[in-house]
Amino acid sequence: AEDGYDLWLRYKTIENQAVLDNYRAQISGYVVEGYSPTLEAIKTELNNGLSRLLDKPIAFGSPFGKTGWIIAGTPEGSSIVAGLNLTEELKSVGQEGYLISNRKVRGINALVIAANSEVGVLYGTFHLLRLIQTHQPLDNEFTITDSPKIQHRILNHWDNLDQTVERGYAGFSLWKWHLLPGYIDPRYVDYARACASIGINGTAITNVNAKAVVLTPMYLEKVKALADVFRPYGLKVYLTARFSAPIEIGGLETADPLDPKVRQWWKDKVTEIMTYVPDFGGFTVKANSEGQPGPQNYGRSHADGANMLADAVAPHGGIVMWRAFVYSNEQPVDRAKQAYDEFKPLDGTFRKNVMVQVKNGAIDFQPREPFHPLFGAMPKTPIMAEFQITQEYLGQATNLCYLAPLFKETLDADTYAKGPNPTPSQSLKAPDLRNPRPTDRPPVPASQVEPVRVATVAKVVDGTLDGQAISGIAGVTNIGNDRNWTGHPFHQANWFAFGRLAWNHELSSAHIANEWLKMTFTNDPTFVETMRGMMLTSRETVVNYSTPLGLHHIMGAGHHYGPGPWVSKMSRADWTSVYYHKADSAGIGFDRTATGSNALEQYAPLAAKVWADPKTCPDIDLLWFHHLPWDFKMKSGKTLWDEIALHYQQGVDEVRQMQQKWKEQEAIVDKERWDHVNMLLSIQEQEAVWWRNSCLLYFQTFSKRPLPKGVEKSD
Ligand code: GCU
Repeated sequence: AEDGYDLWLRYKTIENQAVLDNYRAQISGYVVEGYSPTLEAIKTELNNGLSRLLDKPIAFGSPFGKTGWIIAGTPEGSSIVAGLNLTEELKSVGQEGYLISNRKVRGINALVIAANSEVGVLYGTFHLLRLIQTHQPLDNEFTITDSPKIQHRILNHWDNLDQTVERGYAGFSLWKWHLLPGYIDPRYVDYARACASIGINGTAITNVNAKAVVLTPMYLEKVKALADVFRPYGLKVYLTARFSAPIEIGGLETADPLDPKVRQWWKDKVTEIMTYVPDFGGFTVKANSEGQPGPQNYGRSHADGANMLADAVAPHGGIVMWRAFVYSNEQPVDRAKQAYDEFKPLDGTFRKNVMVQVKNGAIDFQPREPFHPLFGAMPKTPIMAEFQITQEYLGQATNLCYLAPLFKETLDADTYAKGPNPTPSQSLKAPDLRNPRPTDRPPVPASQVEPVRVATVAKVVDGTLDGQAISGIAGVTNIGNDRNWTGHPFHQANWFAFGRLAWNHELSSAHIANEWLKMTFTNDPTFVETMRGMMLTSRETVVNYSTPLGLHHIMGAGHHYGPGPWVSKMSRADWTSVYYHKADSAGIGFDRTATGSNALEQYAPLAAKVWADPKTCPDIDLLWFHHLPWDFKMKSGKTLWDEIALHYQQGVDEVRQMQQKWKEQEAIVDKERWDHVNMLLSIQEQEAVWWRNSCLLYFQTFSKRPLPKGVEKSD
């Protein structure tokens, strides 16, 4: 049955006979010299992948005799690979990169996958399989080299030890803590395979709202068991550190980061963790945010806290990912400003193995946010980007929403941190709907594609803008123990897209959608084209029916599911919607200009300039930065009220178009997955209507204006 368990590693036999025959003629077997857990994983993947894709037995062995062999390995571990003299070519790909080449070896045609490390060979193996899954030609001589642009590519699991998942909508946690370490669910291997297939090399397995008990021996044994499964796939384990752990499990009276006893406790703790997990990666930390303990409880700074942990992990090569998602318990004037205010002054005071992990926007993973002002503002500190793959605020597991355009919008945004740039800011343009360029080719040297000084968020994150020694990107995962991992079949694409972009942020959303659709469903060109179009616009559709024109955080209070723009009884003002939309008889929107909170001041002057004036501010960010009268004249010539109403209607219309497009695929997609998506799209349609009706009825109590023509009335 097609339940989606296999993700994009489905390896279904190629349907197109000509394509199949061609590959069959080219591939008869493979040779991987040597033995190690990673090499075994490579052999298994090649064997399973190729025999299923080509529907024929694939020979394994050496020496190889006939044409059509795949040779995979490192020069160090494989005499055949060593004999190919690839040293020069492999220099450029680093520790995790690889080379794939079709060339003559000892007189016969061979496909070579070579790398400097075994994990590099594994990544190359998945790349070759992807080429076949997406029907790319392999017959002519070619050489592909590829390597990641960002060093630490990490999934963040907000998974609790009782197997619930904070903001998880695809079942319970994959980690069966109560059965570990005795029972190893085979699914852990499939998880690691999926991660490796898209280049993810780290996983923080516990919730940022952390429990100290995971750092005790009873749990460390379980962590070890997981790390042992993940290791062959190049997947390092990280843990979340609860700042008050020295008190809770260490018996100390304080967790003050400058107290020598506390510092020693963390050093000893890390040494202890290393006895279980010798390649333990380090800590992800949420401190002094939403009630979590942190250094500020002792009058110390985020840097004091981060540096203490950094000193504990440094002797073992570990890193600390200190989150900048902070806000105090007092009600702020503008919550969007707090991270910048607290962190910017600390630039240059963090240890070398600390990265500050910054959410894509300054509020909280909204359907659309302008990029976070900390990107570009801390040149002396490696800044990680944190994206949310799980759709807390984007319809959760029922709304089809392809997130690559959201990720790209932030990554491509220009911070103007280095002054004027020759190209206009990407963040102010429409979403990325460009056609793919063939990116499974050798990357074009950066100097040839664009001026080097363009200060995009991606360049902050990959560290090239200011020459950082380390770099990282994190995605809050959408995975649970649902059969298909992500609840909505299409949300597998968001896990996939995060990994692909973490590896290479220059890939286009369209290219990634193409790959995913072909690997997950079929290469049928009409299907791929139609579905790609639907995926690429799906995020904008969600924005239209939930938070158009820069509106934000007007979801149902607490759970964030569905609309809730009205007053609610939350304990904090900034957890309520009215704090964000500020609708009144005069108008709507959050004034973040000089007449309001002046959050705009936190951006580089050139970035701020376009946003500062409602006449130049792009529509998509308008109400994020401005409180405007209901009859404000929009660029379209319509009033703001009409424009808002029409966006909500457009969102509904677009969901109906998605339903239609999906209906057209009924004959092409297997019944189980087709039904599943079809039913979820019906729910999404109802929810889009629910959003439109709720928001318009509510906002209408302030605007006191009729709905413009074309907007359906609610009954
Ligand atoms: C959001 C989310 C919380 C989460 C927090 C975080 O606010 O609603 O559940 O803990 O982000 O990122 O720390």
